[in-house]
Amino acid sequence: GAAPAEAVVTFHPDHRTVAIRFDETLLDAGLRHDINLPYECRNGGCGQCKCTVLSGNVDPGLYQPNALSAEERAAGKVLLCCATALGDVEIEYAAPAVPSAIRQYTAHVVTMERLTHDVMRVMLKLPHGQQISFRAGQYINIILDDGQRRAFSFANPPHQPDLIELQIRLMPGGRFTTHVFEHMKEDDAVQFEGPLGDFSLRESERPIVFVAGATGFAPVKSMVEDAFHRGLKRPIYLYWGVRKLADLYLPDLPQRWARDHENFHFIPVLSDATPEDNWSGRTGLVHEAILEDFPDLRGKEIYACGSVKMVEAIFPSLKNQGAEEGMCFSDAFT
Ligand code: FES
Repeated sequence: GAAPAEAVVTFHPDHRTVAIRFDETLLDAGLRHDINLPYECRNGGCGQCKCTVLSGNVDPGLYQPNALSAEERAAGKVLLCCATALGDVEIEYAAPAVPSAIRQYTAHVVTMERLTHDVMRVMLKLPHGQQISFRAGQYINIILDDGQRRAFSFANPPHQPDLIELQIRLMPGGRFTTHVFEHMKEDDAVQFEGPLGDFSLRESERPIVFVAGATGFAPVKSMVEDAFHRGLKRPIYLYWGVRKLADLYLPDLPQRWARDHENFHFIPVLSDATPEDNWSGRTGLVHEAILEDFPDLRGKEIYACGSVKMVEAIFPSLKNQGAEEGMCFSDAFT
């Protein structure tokens, strides 16, 4: 006969049994039945939804190796947001102390502005009377028609909660970013969920070194504007690494911050400046500029935002020069 379209999944320790379709994740099935499951990125990246399979077979799905190690997988752990049921299964999970504050929203595009050849600023507005409260450094997941998600940091500070600023970089061949550059227009509806992530400024008096690569500038903008708004007097250094001058979008903004706030310093670094760029500023890799400027990085808080490749490349050499384990934070995108 035909294969059954559903199985059941039992969640322990509360022993709740719910129906699950073979084409949905364990997380989606549980949330649909209001089970207080732990999760965050819903994309196999954060590891928050890790749990144990007690019995039954699951397909673990695709996820990032740092979210679930091979040892954990061998010990029967799976990520709820990636795993699907291959039959009836029993799962053990740890409920979060505070039920998730992540909500879904539908916003509308109010303005779109090309900041440079491959970066679009998209301003989203929530329906009248709705706001989203978040911390500077967090991000949202845009939800595509088929349920896939794309992560973007808030570029605006939290004290502007009715508009959401995104800085979206065109990824060659990228389905969503191509849509943004070719078809998205004002008034379009955008579905998203958030706020997500635990990247945010720690409370201390230590000097702050921001390292941004390309659109890693977006969360930094949110955090710096938030720091100014809260009157923080900590020294802030922003190293922004891009390839060519044309990649430096909104360059006047950090220059203005530096004029208006004596604790703020802006150091743009170009890795592939062309003769036409006529660039007399810093060149090379962004972390090399930091190593030159700070012979000893002890006591500095370092916040790196950029590609996984950049973030993985910079921390070992910064740590060699005194950067301390508990003071290095990162927000990486693929
Ligand atoms: Fe992030 Fe599952 S929710 S890995």
